[in-house]
Amino acid sequence: MAEAVGPDPQYDVFADEFLDHARDGLYNAHYDRPACLELLGDVAGLSVLDVACGPGLYAEELVARGAQVRGLDISPRMVELARERVPDAEFCVHDIAKRLDWLPDDSVDLVLFALAIEYVDDRISALRELRRVLRPGGALVLSRQHPTGDWIRQGGNYFDVRVIEEVWSRGWRLRYWLAPLEHTCEELREAGFLIERLVEPRPTAQAAGIDLQTYEKLSREPTGFIAIRALPDPRR
Ligand SMILES: C[S@@+](CC[C@H](N)C(=O)[O-])C[C@H]1O[C@@H](n2cnc3c(N)ncnc32)[C@H](O)[C@@H]1O
Repeated sequence: MAEAVGPDPQYDVFADEFLDHARDGLYNAHYDRPACLELLGDVAGLSVLDVACGPGLYAEELVARGAQVRGLDISPRMVELARERVPDAEFCVHDIAKRLDWLPDDSVDLVLFALAIEYVDDRISALRELRRVLRPGGALVLSRQHPTGDWIRQGGNYFDVRVIEEVWSRGWRLRYWLAPLEHTCEELREAGFLIERLVEPRPTAQAAGIDLQTYEKLSREPTGFIAIRALPDPRR
């Protein structure tokens, strides 16, 4: 297995299908988004950088809640979909592995980085760059696959940090990083963040009406996602 995910915009070929899946689906609409939106708090009047914005589902909600949103994604098709969906936000094609040259230091109130850190090879550099653009007093909200769920599915050594390739139920082929919880926490610390909250979300009550079996599973097992709110460490 390759030791890197690389710069291939893997989601590009199934971006439209992702939108179809994530718009109202249990995992995104009734599990990840409620958790991250809660961690972001009141966004009215605040600037939010939506990193790996996908088709703009978060951006749509954030703009509706009064935020000024800038989004970026490595996939050109995702950015097209986001622009169509949220004309009041600004989007660009950008690989988060690269510097955010167009954003000055301390220029953003909140950064959202939902369900995408797994695809980034040099996560510490990317997180440092997010730390640079966040104003003091701002916050980063990040979600990722639950490392325990990854380990249950993949087996092997839980503590190994490695790239795997999976084919998901819709036939989406994806390479991504597995890493234990400790590793994500350490990467945040090395990048200059302090973890304020770490949440193991439960699906919303409406999720039961969409897929009862998955609702019950995610209500009792750590097999879905985690969400973290981290603050720029003022000591660094
Ligand atoms: C699971 S989707 C999440 C989309 C969105 N954050 C959401 O939760 O609805 C992962 C997204 O990360 C993007 N992505 C993956 N690697 C990236 C990178 N290096 N830089 C920017 N975006 C990336 C993909 O193109 C895809 O849109």
